[in-house]
Amino acid sequence: MSDRYLEFTHSAFGRALADTFGLPKPPRLQRAKSGYLPQPLSEQNVLFGLSRGGELAPALLAALHEAGATVRVVADHPTLADIRAAAGAAGIAVKTEGGPEDKAAAASAFVFDGTGLASVDDLRQLYDFLQPRVARIPPNGRVLLLARDPADAGTPAAAAANAALRGFMRSLGKEIGKRGATANLLEVGRGAEKALAGPLRFFLSPHSAYVDGQSLSLSAPPKGAGMPKNFVGPLGGKVAVVTGAARGIGAAIAATLAREGARVVGIDRPQEEAALGATLSAFNGYGLPLDITAADAPQRIADELERQFGGADIFIHNAGITRDKTLKNMSPQAWDQVLGVNLGAILKINDVLLQRGLKDGMRLVCISSIGGIGGNAGQTNYGATKAGIIGYVEALTPILAKRGGAINAVAPGFIETHMTAEMPMGPREVGRRLSSLSQGGLPIDIAEAVTFLASPLAAGVSGRTLRVCGQNFMGA
Ligand SMILES: NC(=O)c1ccc[n+]([C@@H]2O[C@H](COP(=O)([O-])OP(=O)(O)OC[C@H]3O[C@@H](n4cnc5c(N)ncnc54)[C@H](O)[C@@H]3O)[C@@H](O)[C@H]2O)c1
Repeated sequence: MSDRYLEFTHSAFGRALADTFGLPKPPRLQRAKSGYLPQPLSEQNVLFGLSRGGELAPALLAALHEAGATVRVVADHPTLADIRAAAGAAGIAVKTEGGPEDKAAAASAFVFDGTGLASVDDLRQLYDFLQPRVARIPPNGRVLLLARDPADAGTPAAAAANAALRGFMRSLGKEIGKRGATANLLEVGRGAEKALAGPLRFFLSPHSAYVDGQSLSLSAPPKGAGMPKNFVGPLGGKVAVVTGAARGIGAAIAATLAREGARVVGIDRPQEEAALGATLSAFNGYGLPLDITAADAPQRIADELERQFGGADIFIHNAGITRDKTLKNMSPQAWDQVLGVNLGAILKINDVLLQRGLKDGMRLVCISSIGGIGGNAGQTNYGATKAGIIGYVEALTPILAKRGGAINAVAPGFIETHMTAEMPMGPREVGRRLSSLSQGGLPIDIAEAVTFLASPLAAGVSGRTLRVCGQNFMGA
């Protein structure tokens, strides 16, 4: 379903009307037009800031340089000498920004390594770096902060300073979202420095257009985890399975995994076989029409994966349904159906696939929802399943790590699909606008995040839930 209000406010008349009545003017988001490029940041000036004692400069400068970014530093930045030393050691040129007025050097992305922050006073370094420039963050610009996980920060004061970045980032996101610009935070565990390049390419590029106001933790990748050898076509040679692939978000996920080189197996209910075939034919995908709640579904999936492909590398649990009613009016059937499709089937399929049908180094992604974080009246069944997924991916992480594998969840916000088109108009319009980017996302936005998490770009990410919601205010 298209967002007619967004289109209207991009007409001269609509813009004038919105200005007159102080109505929201949703920005047009810049999304990726192709798969991952060798140098996705080649058109970006990235302004780099480093807290005193920040530890990530060598890894960040190398990753930015390899991704094609022009790295700039502020001429009077307190840690300029440290940045120059790290850049010099890696043979990387950094240019100086003359000042906030220097238009030629205008940055489209701002990266601040806050891992050295150890006190409340230290937070002033973040203010000094961004405050003079915040008004000039361009449309679709990016702010990416880096911190230590407060649990790893060393002292209570350092934990406070690093945790402060979460609230700073979320508040900044709400200030700059009206321009389509986003703010996000990476919390980097010790040993995760080598896994920074992939997340940088995702968060600083148009692949993450609808990811806003989020913090994501990176850990040292487990032994045997695939590290990105090649950022282009990162899923080449992989077999990826998507449930609910006939339409909506699942269809976009299937197409995006194929775009990055995967051979895709699409699963959907037998009555959707024609739609499934139509979706998969665009990229030579392999269809498996079955109901994931059928008693024999786990065995049939495992059999088919073993027989046809010798096992799968990626499994995306996307199929989901709603049967909304307040708890008072909810029938046991509505409860059982939602629990069965959205959560029960995932656990049953994984139980079998972890015995056979998945290769070592597997990457699994489950689709949760912000409804599982914030809750919605009329969705006790749905909310329970989507919150259950979040606990499940945390619990399964150490088990998969033993085989070099990973599992994560994506929690979509309001996404323009068949599911949301069926909502009454009032809640639908509110759902769209109550976010920093004041619009719903598109299936491709979820597909981009899933593809990132399913790929070696996210080698250091497991057990996490990434919201893809344009910083929707629900549960935020
Ligand atoms: N659309 C949103 O705004 C939104 C927000 C948050 C989360 N989600 C989640 O994203 C996922 C996809 O949602 P969507 O909006 O694309 O929904 P959709 O209804 O458009 O598509 C869901 C697909 O899953 C398939 N499916 C349902 N039950 C199945 C079963 N038993 N076996 C096999 N296939 C089955 C359907 O046939 C359909 O093709 C769901 O898990 C949903 O809960 C969606």
